[in-house]
Amino acid sequence: MPSVMLCRVEEVACGTALRVEPEGLPPLAVFNLDGEFFVMDDTCSHGEASLCDGEIEDGQIDCPWHHARFCIRTGKALTFPAVVPQKTYAVSVEAGEVRIEL
Ligand code: FES
Repeated sequence: MPSVMLCRVEEVACGTALRVEPEGLPPLAVFNLDGEFFVMDDTCSHGEASLCDGEIEDGQIDCPWHHARFCIRTGKALTFPAVVPQKTYAVSVEAGEVRIEL
């Protein structure tokens, strides 16, 4: 299965997110929750906001525009106005690199 390198683990501090723009893919948000990495599409399913600009709290990302909340682990839309989940990706960490499987 092909995998794509997104960033190095030290680029995403605990409790933060990093926006990456891999070639051929939509912009992605890489989250570090207590040392565990999760990746979803960065563009909010409700509008054009970058979720990386939102606040992270209790494993959820709060969209900076209209404050829909998504589960960082599953991408599920938890509150209005978003109803469509964020696409998430299978993540692996190898040799200090955060990668997704395609
Ligand atoms: S753009 Fe994210 S909730 Fe509207």
